[in-house]
Amino acid sequence: MDHHEGHVPVLLQEVIELLLPEGRRAVSVVDCTVGLGGHAEALLRADRGEGCLTGMDADADNLRLAKRRLEPFAQRVRLFEANFADIRDVLDEVGIDGADAILADLGVASNQLDDPERGFSFSVDGPLDMRLDRRTGRNAGDLVNALSERELADLIFEYGQERYSRRIARAIVRARVARSIVSTKALAEIVRRAIPPAANRTRRGVDPATRTFQALRIAVNDELGALDKLLGVLPDALNVGGRACVISFHSLEDRKVKRAFNDWRATGRARVITKKPVTACLAEQAVNNRSRSAKLRCVERVE
Ligand SMILES: C[S@@+](CC[C@H](N)C(=O)[O-])C[C@H]1O[C@@H](n2cnc3c(N)ncnc32)[C@H](O)[C@@H]1O
Repeated sequence: MDHHEGHVPVLLQEVIELLLPEGRRAVSVVDCTVGLGGHAEALLRADRGEGCLTGMDADADNLRLAKRRLEPFAQRVRLFEANFADIRDVLDEVGIDGADAILADLGVASNQLDDPERGFSFSVDGPLDMRLDRRTGRNAGDLVNALSERELADLIFEYGQERYSRRIARAIVRARVARSIVSTKALAEIVRRAIPPAANRTRRGVDPATRTFQALRIAVNDELGALDKLLGVLPDALNVGGRACVISFHSLEDRKVKRAFNDWRATGRARVITKKPVTACLAEQAVNNRSRSAKLRCVERVE
């Protein structure tokens, strides 16, 4: 089985219809989060052999998988190990001023979540890593073991929207006195025990560690900072008439996307194509868990 099998790109048809509707030509397409290449492959097929695709990913492993999948289109594809915060540098390297279509499918891919070594998941044990780009930066274990109780509480509250952030931070700081917290399972267990049992019952099958893990992942990868940068350069990175789609998976991201698109529209230079975010239909939600929280917004540069 190929590595990309089992990974289902979210809102695939919707992305294609918004970025490459009938009659629209896209000479240069940029996939900011090429991942396993699912959206990229469909975009390459949909533009009937005319355009080229620039893909980037912060994760070298996924980039390799994307490269393999996109091999049949190799002549029309350029791939970069890069953070989309640096999209301007990537475009400069390719030698294009702007793109006709830009996609960002935020967050992590299923293969990253499922790989215990990456440390994203609390259902399998692994090291507390969570870095997308493993070349640099502090990992989740570094944060958990080094931040003060106050810093941890703020981080878990702000990025995890977790109401028990203070209790969780206190429990982490107590636990690490005895020994450093180095595994995903150990951390998940500390978080679960810190949350009052009554609160656990109201979380309807969602693991109580979910929000804390989300918070750490966002912090480790500066996910909101990278999104801010991408949204900031979008007006310049898109050609006039070009469209951008962003798929987000939690309200912190979606709020930023919505605000950035509306601010841009207010200048008269863009039009928001999706008045409300596009969400997955029930049939897609039934086969792809991840699609349940997906929100897709699309903007078009008009001048
Ligand atoms: C949801 S997956 C994308 C899946 C892809 N659309 C597909 O169809 O296969 C998100 C990917 O974006 C990458 N990623 C997340 N944040 C990034 C960033 N700031 N810069 C570059 N890549 C990033 C992750 O490493 C992951 O491979």
